[in-house]
Amino acid sequence: MLVRSSLIAVAGLSTALAAAVPSQLFDQAVYSKLSATAALSATAWPEYTASNGSWATFDDSDWTTAFLPSTFYALNHRHTVLCPATTPSSTNGSDVDWLVLARTWSAPIFSPSLSLEEAWVHDVGFSSWVASAELALGANETAQATLMQEAEYLASRFSSIVGCTRSWDRGDGDFEVIIDNMMNLQLLVHAAEISGNGTYLEMATSHANKTLTNQIREDGSSFHVIDYSPTTGDVQWSGTAQGYSNSSTWSRGQAWGVNGFALMYNATKDITYLDTSRRMASYFVDHLPDVGVSYWDFDAPLPSTLDTSASLIASSALLLISSLESSLSNSTGAQFYSDAAVTLLSNIVEQGVTEWEGASLVGNGTVNNRADPPNNNTGIIYGDYYFIEAGNQLLSLGLANCTDGSPAVGSSSASSGSSSGGSSTVSCASSPSSSSTPSSRASHLRPPSLARWLSNARRSWMDL
Ligand SMILES: *[C@@H]1O[C@H](CO)[C@@H](O)[C@H](O)[C@H]1NC(C)=O
Ligand SMILES: *[C@@H]1O[C@H](CO)[C@@H](O)[C@H](O)[C@H]1NC(C)=O
Ligand SMILES: *[C@@H]1O[C@H](CO)[C@@H](O)[C@H](O)[C@H]1NC(C)=O
Ligand SMILES: *[C@@H]1O[C@H](CO)[C@@H](O)[C@H](O)[C@H]1NC(C)=O
Ligand SMILES: *[C@@H]1O[C@H](CO)[C@@H](O)[C@H](O)[C@H]1NC(C)=O
Ligand SMILES: *[C@@H]1O[C@H](CO)[C@@H](O)[C@H](O)[C@H]1NC(C)=O
Ligand SMILES: *[C@@H]1O[C@H](CO)[C@@H](O)[C@H](O)[C@H]1NC(C)=O
Ligand SMILES: *[C@@H]1O[C@H](CO)[C@@H](O)[C@H](O)[C@H]1NC(C)=O
Ligand SMILES: *[C@@H]1O[C@H](CO)[C@@H](O)[C@H](O)[C@H]1NC(C)=O
Ligand SMILES: *[C@@H]1O[C@H](CO)[C@@H](O)[C@H](O)[C@H]1NC(C)=O
Ligand SMILES: *[C@@H]1O[C@H](CO)[C@@H](O)[C@H](O)[C@H]1NC(C)=O
Repeated sequence: MLVRSSLIAVAGLSTALAAAVPSQLFDQAVYSKLSATAALSATAWPEYTASNGSWATFDDSDWTTAFLPSTFYALNHRHTVLCPATTPSSTNGSDVDWLVLARTWSAPIFSPSLSLEEAWVHDVGFSSWVASAELALGANETAQATLMQEAEYLASRFSSIVGCTRSWDRGDGDFEVIIDNMMNLQLLVHAAEISGNGTYLEMATSHANKTLTNQIREDGSSFHVIDYSPTTGDVQWSGTAQGYSNSSTWSRGQAWGVNGFALMYNATKDITYLDTSRRMASYFVDHLPDVGVSYWDFDAPLPSTLDTSASLIASSALLLISSLESSLSNSTGAQFYSDAAVTLLSNIVEQGVTEWEGASLVGNGTVNNRADPPNNNTGIIYGDYYFIEAGNQLLSLGLANCTDGSPAVGSSSASSGSSSGGSSTVSCASSPSSSSTPSSRASHLRPPSLARWLSNARRSWMDL
């Protein structure tokens, strides 16, 4: 035990790269911006920022509808469970009840005006987050019924010939599956848990297994789209819709994959899924450009345009893997992924937060660079969601403290005796007044490759 913690300390020093948790994650500016967004009328949902920095909004059937209420559920969790002693205020100084906002902005998801088929289609998995968030608060018949309807609809998109749920409805000859849909599988997992019906779980593992076989390349990178034959289940085509080329790696798709496989490991404890998530995470981290944040596609010619949303999704996924490594008593792995996440978050703040004046929390996102005209250089609602979620994960892992300096309730640093995770190499200089830019030391850091990091850790171990 003692030996293990000195290994972490030495390994931490040997990288000399671990950045500090950026205080901007917990800054008052976060709460002010979100309460300003919440003050918009809940009849049009923010998705990305227009060129003047204001939100461009869409109706409640848009695939991104759930991200704003999910952000509010996450802040409710932060300020009722993790940090109950801190209550951030809105722009006008009044306290904010994030749960009220979450429910206001998710109302149409609980009573949709359109059918699931007409509204979210394959993105129903994202919509189901609000029902899952309600169920995490306690028994709730409305939320349970909503979640089961959503799962039933997703199950209706499953083909036993292909072994996957269908993404786009392109026509009778095509059965397209996008890497993003790894994020849908939690809906099936939750439905199996609630109903005890194992078919939902089988569908989820089948989709994950097919995706692993056909969509993830040897080097851990991914295809955005696979087109299967609906009649034989064979792969007819592999390529991209939103990426740079048919053989490239679209960075947001890669990030969804890292997250989706880590979640499937958490649900099933099948180590194959964790290994896949680790491989995809290594690809993401090892291929970050010098600026330290992903461009919209890992193969796009440089200079290009950043996608902070991909890096935010990946940061959260890296923190999830870190917690999963801890659950396997793999403190070396846990430390590697949390260091990589904190470094990535520091770079995101440096590039997309400190000089950003738009309505979103983070700028420099790319919505779709293959749109006509390309939609880049924006704030994006799902990037913002993961900015909040990553903050919650850092609090839970004990890698950041609440703004009053106390460890989050239930975090690794609140429960004494744990040596995994929270080493002294990362600390959150988070007081509401410290909104200074991160030290230049933290700028443009690249996380070390896993192989290099582990070999340094091993060398330090041999030296002891
Ligand atoms: C302050 O703002 C919140 C939302 O941001 C709003 O609900 C509240 O009514 C406002 N209070 C005052 C006194 O303006
Ligand atoms: C910002 O641009 C959007 C989209 O072009 C427009 O609808 C909106 O009115 C503009 N807002 C302001 C404050 O100028
Ligand atoms: C159940 O969830 C719905 C939708 O958010 C909410 O309006 C309702 O208050 C919740 N009920 C309980 C008992 O928490
Ligand atoms: C389990 O779920 C599947 C998929 O929705 C459904 O076809 C089947 O009827 C369900 N089984 C039971 C016993 O409810
Ligand atoms: C998916 O693969 C795992 C092994 O990694 C296996 O246990 C599981 O049964 C497979 N699921 C299906 C539906 O084939
Ligand atoms: C991908 O391949 C399809 C046909 O196979 C082609 O129409 C499309 O333009 C290609 N996409 C890119 C980005 O090159
Ligand atoms: C991981 O699984 C546990 C146990 O089912 C669950 O409580 C937790 O919410 C899951 N974590 C995530 C990030 O889904
Ligand atoms: C610990 O984590 C690293 C990084 O994911 C991995 O390469 C290694 O195999 C893990 N070790 C164990 C014992 O699981
Ligand atoms: C980030 O966006 C700003 C404009 O909002 C732009 O000036 C800057 O060049 C972008 N940064 C990078 C690294 O692309
Ligand atoms: C970003 O979008 C603009 C406007 O649509 C476009 O002109 C530019 O080529 C895009 N940048 C890159 C690197 O693709
Ligand atoms: C959080 O606070 C505890 C107790 O004051 C302290 O031991 C720990 O180092 C702090 N953690 C971070 C990440 O700052």
